[in-house]
Amino acid sequence: MSVGIDIGNKSIKLVETEKDGNSFKLKASGIVSYKGLSPEVAKEGKELSEISGVIKKLVKEAKVSSKDTVLSLPESQVFSRVVKFPLLTDSEIASAVKWEAEQYIPIPINEAILQHQVIEKREDTSPPQTYVLLVAASKELVGRYAKIIEMSGLKLTAIEPELMSLVRALAPENQTVMIVDFGARSTDIAISKNAMLTFSRSIPTAGDAFTRSVSQGLGIELQQAEEYKKTYGLSAQKLEGKVKTSLDTVFRMVSDEMKKAIHFYINDEKSESPKSVILAGGTSMMPEAASTLTNLLGMEVVVGNPFSKLKISPEAAKSLSGYAPLYSIAVGLSLREE
Ligand SMILES: Nc1ncnc2c1ncn2[C@@H]1O[C@H](COP(=O)(O)OP(=O)(O)OP(=O)(O)O)[C@@H](O)[C@H]1O
Ligand SMILES: [Mg+2]
Repeated sequence: MSVGIDIGNKSIKLVETEKDGNSFKLKASGIVSYKGLSPEVAKEGKELSEISGVIKKLVKEAKVSSKDTVLSLPESQVFSRVVKFPLLTDSEIASAVKWEAEQYIPIPINEAILQHQVIEKREDTSPPQTYVLLVAASKELVGRYAKIIEMSGLKLTAIEPELMSLVRALAPENQTVMIVDFGARSTDIAISKNAMLTFSRSIPTAGDAFTRSVSQGLGIELQQAEEYKKTYGLSAQKLEGKVKTSLDTVFRMVSDEMKKAIHFYINDEKSESPKSVILAGGTSMMPEAASTLTNLLGMEVVVGNPFSKLKISPEAAKSLSGYAPLYSIAVGLSLREE
């Protein structure tokens, strides 16, 4: 049994699950909006205790029973890349990663925390290769996240990049798909093959930028722009399409980044194109976001439901149904098994 906590720029989400036979059962969930500094910039004890205070309250209100916590790191704070090695055993790969990481990551090795995951052993390439995902983050930043969890009265058991959690929550087996977390500050793009994360990228344009565009386009306050964005979104019929018009340029920028990611993946990684896109995060709930993306990308785009693989009571399913995309990362975190 463990608790997944996703600390976002706008809200903190929590999910607790418990193993039940071959699947998992939802035990607790909760979300709270958060307006303070995010852990990326909060450095002082006082700033960290503001975050841990909010988490403590959330844990209490959600009636969480376990202390074991898995946490995500914002994709923008993580360095990740796919590195190719010859066909080696897992332990040979582990030591090769250790010796060679320095040339791949931009932070000094003694200031970094490293993780790696064998994604695929390919024998169709010449020579045959092992594809390994290497992720690195600053020790100092990870330490700060660990401190927040300790101050919240919980026990940190693992920490991982948020796209890893997202893939665990939403990726289908035996397919290549793109999974996108549409948040407030950042849009994070993953490509997953056979439910393994094989590509990740973070761009600093998401819901906040959309709200600013509506505010500027319509000459209204941010708070009202936020409401208009959520109510009318990209609908051409609503409000004479004025909200849509003010969002068009910035939305297209984000979809162009998704296209670029797909091209890079196909051309540089010599891999087959994703067949569809699964959306997560608060901005995925924007009216007509998925259908507009379907047109722009020319492929099927759906909003994912992270609760669909869990055993969940009908009451919980009903009360969570309008918010499911917000919980995607927290669900993935709570399902981490080692
Ligand atoms: N119905 C909706 N339509 C459009 N946007 C929405 C809707 N509901 C929420 N949002 C937007 O979703 C964003 C918040 O989503 P989310 O909670 O996933 O972000 P976050 O995790 O806090 O941020 P980040 O991941 O960037 O740190 C806000 O920008 C909010 O305006
Ligand atoms: Mg987020």
